[in-house]
Amino acid sequence: MSGVRVVLVDPEGREHSLEGEPGQSVMALAVAHGVPGIEAECGGACACATCHVYVEPERFRLVGPPPPLEADMLEFANAERQPTSRLSCQIKLHPSLEGLHLTVAGGG
Ligand code: FES
Repeated sequence: MSGVRVVLVDPEGREHSLEGEPGQSVMALAVAHGVPGIEAECGGACACATCHVYVEPERFRLVGPPPPLEADMLEFANAERQPTSRLSCQIKLHPSLEGLHLTVAGGG
């Protein structure tokens, strides 16, 4: 099975080009590689909003808007919620996301 590569831009502006397995969450991939700004305090349960990312707008439709529970959690995120905000523990890698850029919102 071939991997899916995504690029995470951390709060310092550094790019992390990471390859994970389809079905793995972007949060898990980021944590495995120690990307700064992804705290993931709840371990991926959609209950902390410390894995907040901004999806690149041009390809946001591939990821789609957050379902209601996640949208509620995003209201508690420390960093400003933007139109392409998502919780990275709720984004699963898929071949269609190859090369996607995600910016770490940071700020817990
Ligand atoms: S890790 Fe807690 S909401 Fe994503």
